[in-house]
Order: sequence, then structure tokens, then C-alpha cells
Amino acid sequence: MKLRIISLASLAVMVFGFHSCARWDDGAPTVTVAADEVTSELNPLFYGLMTEEINYSYDGGLYAELIRNRAFDSPAIYYRPPVPINPVVSKQDEPMDEAGIRKIVRNPEQLDFLPGQIEMRLKNHNYQVYQENHVYYPDTDPNLQYQEGLYYWNPVMEGDAKVKIALDNIDQSSWTVMKNNARIEISNADGKSRAGIYNEGYWGIPVWPNTTYRASFYAKAAPGFDGPITVAIESNDGSTSYASATVSSIGTEWKKYELTLATADATVTDKARFTLTSTANGKFWISFVSLFPPTYNDRPNGLRKDLMELMAEMHPAFLRFPGGNYVQGHAPETRFEWKKMIGPVEMRPTHYNDSWHYHSSDGMGLMEFMDWCEDLGMEPILVVFSGMYLDTESGSPFLGKNLEPFIEEALEEIEFLTGDTDTKWGALRAQYGHPEPYKLKYIEIGNEDFHERRGNTYSLRYMQMYNVLKKAYPDMVYIASSRVIDDTVITDMVDVHQYMRVEQGALAENHRFDPENYPRTSPKIFVGEYATREGRPTTNLQGALYDASYLLGCERNSDLVEMTCFAPIFCNVNLGGVQWECNLMGYNAVSCYGAPSFYVQSMFSKNLGVHQLSSKMLNTPIDSETGFEDIIYNVTKDDEFIYVKAVNVTGKEYPFQVDIKGVGIVDSKAVVTVLKGDSDQETNSIDNPLNIVPQESVVNGFGKRFSYTLEPYSVNVIKLGYK
Ligand code: AHR
Repeated sequence: MKLRIISLASLAVMVFGFHSCARWDDGAPTVTVAADEVTSELNPLFYGLMTEEINYSYDGGLYAELIRNRAFDSPAIYYRPPVPINPVVSKQDEPMDEAGIRKIVRNPEQLDFLPGQIEMRLKNHNYQVYQENHVYYPDTDPNLQYQEGLYYWNPVMEGDAKVKIALDNIDQSSWTVMKNNARIEISNADGKSRAGIYNEGYWGIPVWPNTTYRASFYAKAAPGFDGPITVAIESNDGSTSYASATVSSIGTEWKKYELTLATADATVTDKARFTLTSTANGKFWISFVSLFPPTYNDRPNGLRKDLMELMAEMHPAFLRFPGGNYVQGHAPETRFEWKKMIGPVEMRPTHYNDSWHYHSSDGMGLMEFMDWCEDLGMEPILVVFSGMYLDTESGSPFLGKNLEPFIEEALEEIEFLTGDTDTKWGALRAQYGHPEPYKLKYIEIGNEDFHERRGNTYSLRYMQMYNVLKKAYPDMVYIASSRVIDDTVITDMVDVHQYMRVEQGALAENHRFDPENYPRTSPKIFVGEYATREGRPTTNLQGALYDASYLLGCERNSDLVEMTCFAPIFCNVNLGGVQWECNLMGYNAVSCYGAPSFYVQSMFSKNLGVHQLSSKMLNTPIDSETGFEDIIYNVTKDDEFIYVKAVNVTGKEYPFQVDIKGVGIVDSKAVVTVLKGDSDQETNSIDNPLNIVPQESVVNGFGKRFSYTLEPYSVNVIKLGYK
């Protein structure tokens, strides 16, 4: 397994070279730029990120906690609706099994699924691709290895030592809102051989060399047992201990024990487990077992370093959070309830993420999102629950009086984040470690409210919320989550989501926001989710080429489009980790990588420009079958540079000529960045993370008029100095 330890900066090989200027050809694709004609201004927040708990984005992803089911409250490994679901009308009308799952097994070759993958629909939800052998229900599985409530935990027994582990719920209300704990009873231990319990982590506990981990657990002994208890990170077979620490004795009252575990040697592996064992006989209880590696900026309860560093390479200007469907849930009780996701993690009750079918530890709560924004210098875009959840069978019931509690919840959330310390909620934020108000300017009301089933109450709900929020916070920017709104709606921006597939004409979306397709009477556009869905689990080069084309259309129409962000950004690539195909960044416990689309955003955000320039292209090559352009381009500038961006979506090489007017001098030397591959099916992966990455070089031979070669399947940025 290769580790992703090389930064993009070091990948960007600065080659000094000469650009071979082919002879000017009047028949070649040629862009004429009027550098003195600005058609619109680009929002500096043009390229950002969107995030939610999906694909193990936080638990098993960005949130650095390594223990899975740390509070023994994870209800099941995979989703099983608790009651049979009433049949829902479906276009395909497939039969539904008793668990409420519609399953269609398709020919993998035909649909390009990997062997064993199936597409299925959970309740009313979108079709998703799952690994068949990972869709199962613990209570019907004859090979079940976990005991109820002890998912991801298993016994450790060595020599003659024996252990009985069981889910228990002895009183622990003095320190937590959680009810569950694990009872551990050791017998036959002889002072040398050990017994206890181990946790698998999220597809393994990552072992890093020379790293200090922080472990903690709560424990309470039954009379007659006082320890010792040893915690360790060790190989899955128990033969190699990478780090360990021991508490010599424990008492009969609940107490938190904190230890550090330091690895020494050069091993890097995710084939490791976390053990908590004793060499003494007796009974004790444990709860809230936690293990953290060093986190980004050393924040307690913080975020995974490598993923933060990877994201920083993209220069994201904003973060839209906490969803996505995760904001809503399938029922109001499973929405993102921010008040239950602040303060000490022991006091967060956790919840079932029924949007994406796994339990959420809620260690990644409201303040962790805001800290993430601060750490990467991103503008937060806070999505608040608008009264629509995913199973609104006959329209949202939350209107008028019924919506008021959620409006209050949003008001309090904003006060919590931005209020002075003399306000009720601002004081609580200070108590939780952030006396300074967070910076917050953007509020989105709901997520994809056009999905409201059998009803359209969004305009009413939006305006009811907007009127109250706007009065309390007049300077915020308010975003509507749906275009399906009537003309009573007052909004600063509308969030448009754009998921594309190549075979469904993704290239046409380059023109989605052109004036002839999109009236300028529309509110400004925030593309709060987009992706070309090609390549699994992360997008391939084809996805990146089409994403680039789409983004250039957005830039060109920046009089309308204010901001864009890909979705979803994260996925844990292990089997069972991915609920949504085609993501931006993949990882396992020890390494991570960016998809080619990740590098498109990185290239474009670093070369955004401030002003959109007037330009036109002659001799544009058109695909005779699809009618779409083979080359898509855009030109912007700031005070120092002109940025020419061009995408060649085909396997053919194309000449590309640029004629810049309305400017004094254009330097002959330019910084050229190219992302390309031999096939558009090429991609990056956990085992080959740097296969498709941009190459940057300083090249001579440019000027006001130049010809350049667009290589097959390439995204190009030419940064030209000018006066
Ligand atoms: O990005 C995945 C999902 O797509 C989001 O949760 C939802 O908003 C959209 O339908």
C-alpha cells in the first residue's frame, strides 16, 4: 500500500521549457479574448466544499476517533427498517422484501458494476450501489460474530484465560447521557495470560511510526477486581504489540482513565486492533472507550491530519454543512439536532443516521464543523432544518405553528455560533471553549426541498423562516434550497444541484446557465452539489473532464453563478463504507487520495481570476454524433494574470489558438498546469493515489497570440502575466 505523503506542491514539477508555437492556422480552433471587456465578476468564494455524514465521512473518516461503537450504542451494522414500510409507488415497481428494501440485481457487465454489486432502493430513497456481501442483517445472519450492542467488539482470550463479555446498562448517569456499557468477566487468568475485549476500529486501527495516541476509557470494578488493565494497539492476531500502556488498578466507582500509547518502529498498517485486557480475574465494566491519533492543529476531539492536509491543497473557499440529506433524516427525530452535538462528547446522545444507514457518534458536531472552517480558512454555509424530512408522505406537516419550534432551533443555533458571551447561547459556546463568536454569514434554509413528497409547502415554510431569521439577523445571506418556489419568496440565492452522467449528456450542462437557457430574473445561483458520476468509488478522469467543462460554464456565467461545490467529498473505500458512488476523496485507515476531479477543483480554485472576460471561439470542433463541443474553455483575469482554462474531452489532440486583444503586453513565459491521462477511464485509487495529478511547468513561447496543443483527455490552465 502506498502512502499519500507527497503534497501537491511537490508534485507540481516546475519544468522550464519552450512551448513550440505551431504556425498560426486560420482553420484551427481559435479563441479571441477582449481583455478589456469584463462581463462579470467572479465571487472569491467560487470554489468550496460540501459535506455531510455519508460514506463514513466523519466516523471512520475525517473525525479522528479510532474506536468504532465507543459507547456501545451502535444498533446494527447495516440498516434494517424497524417496522415494515408501506409499499411506495416506484417507477420500476420492483418487489420489496419484508425489510422494506427493493432490490434489483443487474448484470454487472451491462452496467459496469463490480462483481457482487447490486443496486437497491432503501425505503423511498435513491438507488444506490452496495456490495452485496455487505448488505446483511446481524439478527438473521447465522455466522453472526457480534453480540447484540457489541458490534465491532470481540473477546480476547489467551492461554487458559477466559472472558465473558456482554452488553450491560448499569448506572453511569454521573458522567454521561449514554446508557450502555460492556460487562467483562475474566476467569482462569493466571497473572500472565490475558483476557479482555478488542475493537476493530473503522476497518482497522491505523498504526503509524513514532506516533503518540491518546487513549481513554471509563471503568468501574466489581468488588474483588482492581486491575491491572492494559490497553494496546496490536496486530490483528495479537502477536505484535505496537504500543501499550497499563492502568495498575481501578476502583469500584466510575472513573475516566487516560493514557498515552506511543509507537516506536516504522510499521504502517491498518491491519491492527485496539485491545483492553487484564491478567487478573474478576468483573468490571467499561464504557466510552476512545483512541485518538494526533489531530490537525492538535485539537482535542479533532480531525484527521492527512485528510485536512489533502483538502487544504484544494484551497476551498467555503464549506456547506451539515448536509445534504443528513440535515433532514427520514424523520424529524433523525435530523441534525445541533443541541445534541455540542459540548463534551460523553453528553452527546448520538443518533441513527437513517439518511445513510449507519449510526453516528456525533463526535463531529456543530463546533467541530466550525473549527474545521477556521482551520482551513473556509466561509461556513450553515444549512438549517426547514421542516422537510425525507419521508414526508403527504407534504411537510411543519407549517405555521408547527414550524415555530424549528425556527426557534435555527435562531438559537445562530446565536450559539455568533452571539456575544452575554447571550444565553453565546455563553454556552464560550463555556465549550470558543469565546470569540464564529464568523457566519450564509444560511441555507433546508436541503433539496423540491423532494417534498406529495406536497409543495416550501415557499410557505421558507418565507416563514426567512421573515423571522432576517429580522433577527438582517446581514446574513439567505439561500433557498429549491428552485421550486413561487414569487412570494425573497432569497439572496438558490441552491441548484447538478448530478450528471456522460451518457445522459453531461456536456450539455456546460451551457446550463447561459443566458438563453437561464433567465437573469432568477435569484443568484449557488451550485451546492454537483458531480459527474463516472468512476467508483471516486470519480475517474472522464468525470474530471466533464466536471471541468461544467465548472467552466459556471465561471463563464458568473454574473449568475456565485459558488460551486462537488458532492459528496469523502468516502471510506472499504467494503461497506460507500453508500454513494462517485466521490471526490477516498481513504482507508492509513492513507487517502484525491480523485482527478479533486485536482480539477484544485487547479481552478488556484487560478480563478477576478473578472470574467468577453471572448469567443471560432472553428469549435463538434462531435458529429452528440453535437457537443470537444473543447470547452474560459478566460478570466485579475490585476496580474490572464487565466486561460481549456478542456479537451476527447482522445484526439487539438490545436488551440488564443488571440488576446485589449491589452498591452502578454509575457512570453507562462505557468502551464495540465491534468491528463492516456484514457479517460484512468483514475486514482487507494493503491495508486497519484496516477492522475496535475503537472505544472513554466513555459516560454506565449504572448498576445499563441497556439497551444490540447493533449487528449486533458484539463489545461495557462496563467499569463500581462500589462
Ligand atoms: O450528495 C449526496 C446526496 O445527494 C445529498 O445528501 C443530497 O442533498 C443529494 O440528493
